[in-house]
Amino acid sequence: NLASASAQAPRGLWSSRLAFILAATGSAVGLGNIWKFPYITGENGGGAFVIVYLACIAVIGIPIMMAEVFIGRNGRHNPITSLRTVAERNLSSPLWRVSAIIGMLAAFVILSFYSVIGGWAAAYVGHSAMGDFSGQDAEVVGGIFGSLLASPGTLLFWHSVFMALVIVVVARGLKSGLERAVNILMPALFVLLLVAVGYATTTGHFGEAVKFLFRPDFAALSMNGVLIALGHAFFTLSLGMAIMMAYGSYLGRDVSIGRTAITVGFLDTAVALLAGLAIFPVVFANGLEAGAGPGLIFQTLPLAFGQMPLGSLFGTLFFILLVFAAWTSGISLLEPVTEWFEEKFSTSRVASAIVVGVACWALGIASILSLNEWSGFAPLGMFDKFAGKTIFDLLDFFTANIMLPLSGLLTALFVGWCVARETLQRDVVTGTGFTLWYSLLRFVTPVAVVIVFVYNLMA
Ligand code: PHE
Ligand code: NA
Repeated sequence: NLASASAQAPRGLWSSRLAFILAATGSAVGLGNIWKFPYITGENGGGAFVIVYLACIAVIGIPIMMAEVFIGRNGRHNPITSLRTVAERNLSSPLWRVSAIIGMLAAFVILSFYSVIGGWAAAYVGHSAMGDFSGQDAEVVGGIFGSLLASPGTLLFWHSVFMALVIVVVARGLKSGLERAVNILMPALFVLLLVAVGYATTTGHFGEAVKFLFRPDFAALSMNGVLIALGHAFFTLSLGMAIMMAYGSYLGRDVSIGRTAITVGFLDTAVALLAGLAIFPVVFANGLEAGAGPGLIFQTLPLAFGQMPLGSLFGTLFFILLVFAAWTSGISLLEPVTEWFEEKFSTSRVASAIVVGVACWALGIASILSLNEWSGFAPLGMFDKFAGKTIFDLLDFFTANIMLPLSGLLTALFVGWCVARETLQRDVVTGTGFTLWYSLLRFVTPVAVVIVFVYNLMA
């Protein structure tokens, strides 16, 4: 209960505003930027999609991030307790905490399969370093991916390695775990990304990639593309998973939530665009298909690296970059549930991280088996909409299309309509930005989220 929760030892705070920015950016920058953004941009025609995506980040993503950080900092507990605390202070129903419950459940489920994909990236570091892609054709490169997915033992191994890396950091706590990890990993990630872009400029197809990403062709953009952009804005900023609430709970009073959220949104966007500038020149230089879909970085890109001078070296660096990005995101997915477990059961940080992490690891096995032994098993196959969808597909579908938007919608409604305006004016944005943020959060965000939500359910 609340009284016992507040009686706990004083919580730590981030050592600086920069520490929070690095951690939040570490969460935001992940497979979404490096794997998903390039391929959905490719599938949706390029420039026009990018413009819509940028608008979604600014108008919907950043305002919700601010609301989440506010809840964490105002409540100063794990996301569920924080929401209840803020609700009680504002004489609102404690039921609003379902927003955090849904978000944390989503974080738990997402981590279970995010770790499997993080494991693919780790496996690819090895493949590139061993030169497995050098000089190979599409069939061999595709075969490497295919046999990885077909082998439960290999997948389980890399899934376990990835999850162990995540647990170790979270178990060490805020300062010696999270902060130390992001202090090293985030600068390394930026450097590797710049190296990758530098390498891409040597392909002779850099200009083509710039045109592809930045020259809008609205004819190439469908309504479906707009909705994908909006959904991705959520995912890429790690919203709707209670993560920013958990991270916000350690944020100092004097830090501006508005400026901080804008910085994180900007950095996440910069990484996505840089990833596009690193990947598309390589794709075009090898005459490959920009709209190759989810296989873009695990099949198309290794094929390209295999044909290029120093390709093994740069391929290896690229996949190390991917592992780092996924690692800091994995950490952020484990943090909210661990924080909750620790406060709820008054256990140690280490025990909480291990219990939650191992449970998540176990759930991940279902996703691994979905790729091979259980690939024909569609638990909800009796509904047309879910025909052929494996457990992995279903976990992805329900978290990304239902739980995240629902959690984000409830957060926006709660902060926009139930929290006292004076509190927000004092705590979130002071000055002229307030009215803009407040109206976006109250009107624009909920409407946009409902549209995507309904569309995804009907599509
Ligand atoms: N924001 C991350 C990305 O873009 C994805 C993610 C989602 C990370 C949820 C953590 C939590 O890849
Ligand atoms: Na992201």
